Amino acid sequence: MKRQPLWRISVVTTPEAEDAVAELLGRLLGEGASSYYDVENQSSQVSVYRPQAPPSSARLRQALKTGLQRLRDCGLEPGWGTVTLRRVRHEDWAESWKRHFKPIEVGRSLLIKPSWSRRRPKPRQQVVVLDPGLSFGTGQHPTTASCLKEVTRHVGKGASRSFLDIGTGSGILAIAAAKLNYQPVRAFDFDPDAVRIARENAKNNGVNLRLTRADVTRLPRRPARRYDLVCANLISPLLVAERKRIISLLNQGGTLVLAGILKTEFSAVQAAFEAAGGVLQRTESRQEWQSGAFHFAKKAPLTAKKV
Ligand SMILES: C[S@@+](CC[C@H](N)C(=O)[O-])C[C@H]1O[C@@H](n2cnc3c(N)ncnc32)[C@H](O)[C@@H]1O
Repeated sequence: MKRQPLWRISVVTTPEAEDAVAELLGRLLGEGASSYYDVENQSSQVSVYRPQAPPSSARLRQALKTGLQRLRDCGLEPGWGTVTLRRVRHEDWAESWKRHFKPIEVGRSLLIKPSWSRRRPKPRQQVVVLDPGLSFGTGQHPTTASCLKEVTRHVGKGASRSFLDIGTGSGILAIAAAKLNYQPVRAFDFDPDAVRIARENAKNNGVNLRLTRADVTRLPRRPARRYDLVCANLISPLLVAERKRIISLLNQGGTLVLAGILKTEFSAVQAAFEAAGGVLQRTESRQEWQSGAFHFAKKAPLTAKKV
């Protein structure tokens, strides 16, 4: 049976105005809007799919223009709010979610791409192939993207460094680290599905990692081994509560990358880790998230001050 084409009405906006624009577009067209964040352009596209074109595109554009101006009046910056109206084949729509998962280049050394992408790596670029699955981590999320940037930062600078990923999800950070010659690479997650999926992903990428099931809250206070670079993309309360255990996993002179922190919570997390001997070296904000890379010059004190 031949299916009718669909109409896609999209507005390009800023990440901060994404929710408000989705609400506006959905209300004007009487359909739920979907949105996705384009990591490369750092913009958001909000779209509605419907069986008919809007009765008057001129009227829709005018109503959107008025609505976007109202958002500006309320202090939200929606950008230019460029509107596109396009007829799409049903098949294209069914496949459209794949467009949300575009290849991502992290610095010059790493390319993360889904299996259906034909993108070729540049010379000396390592490739991680990952499809969206049940576990967190395709590189599209701002918190993962910040961690990946830190993982690539130390590439090619002398002897290989050891790496630990706390809460590995899909295994993306650990797989990237292994591809970039960190050694040894260890990762764990308390979710058995995440461990299973991360193992499959590691196998598909031809890397050999130590991937185990473990809960950060139950780790021994004196670990058997320590690492040069530790990534913990978790949530702020867990990071703060388990800071002693997390820091104890770090080698002297090592770097700890913390992510999964809302911008509004960052200063409290920073204070907690600085009181425990860390020095914030870099911090990065992406959308509502803020990450930080902390240097620990001395062996971490196991009696961090309470904050
Ligand atoms: C935000 S995801 C990060 C995944 C991946 N590392 C990344 O950067 O994309 C957080 C992961 O931490 C895991 N996690 C949450 N609490 C944990 C705990 N107490 N111990 C171990 N893993 C935990 C979750 O199952 C999830 O896979």
